[in-house]
Amino acid sequence: MPSIAPYCSCNIYLLLACLITGSFAGDPYVFFDWTVSYRTASPLGVKQQVIGIDGQFPGPILNVTTNWNVVVNVKNDLDEPFLITWNGVQHRKNSWQDGVLGTNCPIPAGWNWTYQFQVKDQIGSFFYFPSLNFHRAAGGYGGIIINNRDVIPLPFTVPDGDVALLISDWYTKSHKELRKDVENGKDLGVPDGVLINGFGPYRYDEALVRGGITYQIINVEPGKTYRFRVHNVGISTSLNFRIQNHNLLLVETEGSYTVQQNYTNMDIHVGQSYSFLVTMDQTASNDYYIVASPRYVNSSKASGVAILHYSNSQGPASGPLPDPPNEYDTYFSMNQARSIRWNVSAGAARPNPQGSFKYGEITVTDVYVIANRPAELIDGKWRTTLNGISYLPPSTPIKLAQQYNIPGVYKLDFPKALMNRPPKVDTSLINGTFKGFMEIIFQNNDTTVQSYHMDGYAFFVVGMDFGVWTENSRGTYNKWDGVARSTTQVFPGAWTAILASLDNTGIWNLRAQNLDSWYLGQEVYLSIMNPEIDKSEVLLPDNTIYCGVLSSLQKDQARRFSFSGASSVASLSRTFLVMLVITLHGALLR
Ligand SMILES: *[C@@H]1O[C@H](CO)[C@@H](O)[C@H](O)[C@H]1NC(C)=O
Ligand SMILES: *[C@@H]1O[C@H](CO)[C@@H](O)[C@H](O)[C@H]1NC(C)=O
Ligand SMILES: *[C@@H]1O[C@H](CO)[C@@H](O)[C@H](O)[C@H]1NC(C)=O
Ligand SMILES: *[C@@H]1O[C@H](CO)[C@@H](O)[C@H](O)[C@H]1NC(C)=O
Ligand SMILES: *[C@@H]1O[C@H](CO)[C@@H](O)[C@H](O)[C@H]1NC(C)=O
Ligand SMILES: *[C@@H]1O[C@H](CO)[C@@H](O)[C@H](O)[C@H]1NC(C)=O
Ligand SMILES: *[C@@H]1O[C@H](CO)[C@@H](O)[C@H](O)[C@H]1NC(C)=O
Repeated sequence: MPSIAPYCSCNIYLLLACLITGSFAGDPYVFFDWTVSYRTASPLGVKQQVIGIDGQFPGPILNVTTNWNVVVNVKNDLDEPFLITWNGVQHRKNSWQDGVLGTNCPIPAGWNWTYQFQVKDQIGSFFYFPSLNFHRAAGGYGGIIINNRDVIPLPFTVPDGDVALLISDWYTKSHKELRKDVENGKDLGVPDGVLINGFGPYRYDEALVRGGITYQIINVEPGKTYRFRVHNVGISTSLNFRIQNHNLLLVETEGSYTVQQNYTNMDIHVGQSYSFLVTMDQTASNDYYIVASPRYVNSSKASGVAILHYSNSQGPASGPLPDPPNEYDTYFSMNQARSIRWNVSAGAARPNPQGSFKYGEITVTDVYVIANRPAELIDGKWRTTLNGISYLPPSTPIKLAQQYNIPGVYKLDFPKALMNRPPKVDTSLINGTFKGFMEIIFQNNDTTVQSYHMDGYAFFVVGMDFGVWTENSRGTYNKWDGVARSTTQVFPGAWTAILASLDNTGIWNLRAQNLDSWYLGQEVYLSIMNPEIDKSEVLLPDNTIYCGVLSSLQKDQARRFSFSGASSVASLSRTFLVMLVITLHGALLR
């Protein structure tokens, strides 16, 4: 492959733009080299270890366009196995790149592994994060933008700028201490703070916020409109997001254009992403607060506060933060969630309107009512369950076991409802019907909001309500403009119903996004197999890492890293596109 220039610091996007608009017919490749390592940071004024990507915390934004091929060489400089997953990126027929334990062997400490995938037929705002060992509690995350192809217009005027905000609950304990607490059945408790882009709060109140904390400042021009992409990358806390004196015009969530509506604040649950257009229509008599405050916990001390600074601002932000919604009002939050609608006439990744996929008219083939339970002791260990099963990751990833026909690694017997039997730890999968249409009802028996995410898919959120779901609940479903997304919240003592069109073959993770619930076993995989030979399914990658019963196939990665000159010291801000290759259309991966 021709290499243009390593460590090229020129404007790669201009370069790409030239090549794309040229006469080449294929989909471009973009290459990234990321070193994942510990570094120190003091977001809340306490020095602690965080996980950086190329020294950055949060990591760099992966800014790509529909149909690009993305190659990310990840070098694991941590002291533990590591994987990155791409939350909401669908990896069409290519779960090999999903970066979760059911599809990939972990990248051992000191090794590298190169992800290669195409961002096919998707647009929107997503994020990546480390999927193992509670790493997300220490960082390792970053935003993903998938831009529209030029031929497809945005359903709004092109914004004057793009602002990524990664908001997260934060603890001063390390990820290792936190996961030990969770293993011991200890509640994570109220977070020590909320970070915005890895920074602690602006000192809006001298009694509540200590001095000397670096905070995020967003610089803007009066009169302009910016697209704010806001992601809750935290571990377990729902956050209310708002900007003082400014409306949030919701336009997109997790790859779907929404009906455009103004909100004064938005509850963003763990793992969710939203785009808002925000117009700088205020007088700038001072700066404005950007706030992300915890929901349903009494933690006035823990709000994330950044600053919106107009270029003509007359002074600093002052006074109290804008009011959150009523602290414990889940009805408000549920009604807000229900108000988010799909814009059926907008084209998303493709020119045809989103709504031309009439999900409400499709016959459901499989129904799963998936009930969670709070952590409980199973065989002496603290575990969480879905339908009474706490997922046990096998030492051989399921996808590899399937590829090599290894029996006994997993079962395809995940129950369609909670069974009247004691909870157990098991490796039980959902046997999905290829091209089927699956209805899943999540029933939350926990006392906190949980969010659930499905890899490989966007699903339609068609209903949610308090109480126990019954067949009659279907009467309330939104069969027309329920939004398609990949992470949905389920309120405590309530249910959420989703519909998914099972057209993406592979092994796909369905998980709690709340890290404590996930870590203790609240996940399952869907196996979606095409019974016929499907030439478009991506083959086993050449660089597959082997583990478990397949360990003997693994060649030792003896030469520690062949990156040119890549000592981790020199790797700061090396997130540049180093090569760019145009290949023939469809020649993905090989
Ligand atoms: C993303 O890349 C596009 C060009 O492909 C560029 O116009 C845009 O400014 C970039 N956005 C960010 C947030 O870097
Ligand atoms: C590790 O990185 C090198 C390039 O520096 C690459 O050739 C090799 O394929 C990578 N290993 C894996 C397993 O992806
Ligand atoms: C829906 O999308 C269309 C087409 O892009 C756009 O013109 C319209 O303003 C959007 N409607 C709403 C209510 O957001
Ligand atoms: C949203 O609010 C802005 C003022 O901040 C207003 O100009 C705009 O018309 C509103 N849009 C909608 C769709 O309500
Ligand atoms: C939250 O805590 C504060 C004291 O820190 C107390 O004054 C307030 O009443 C509490 N609010 C609720 C809703 O419990
Ligand atoms: C899984 O589902 C397929 C049909 O989609 C069926 O042919 C197969 O027998 C099922 N496997 C098991 C173990 O139930
Ligand atoms: C959980 O289930 C139990 C037993 O069915 C029920 O009594 C309890 O109210 C449920 N709690 C929630 C929050 O749904």
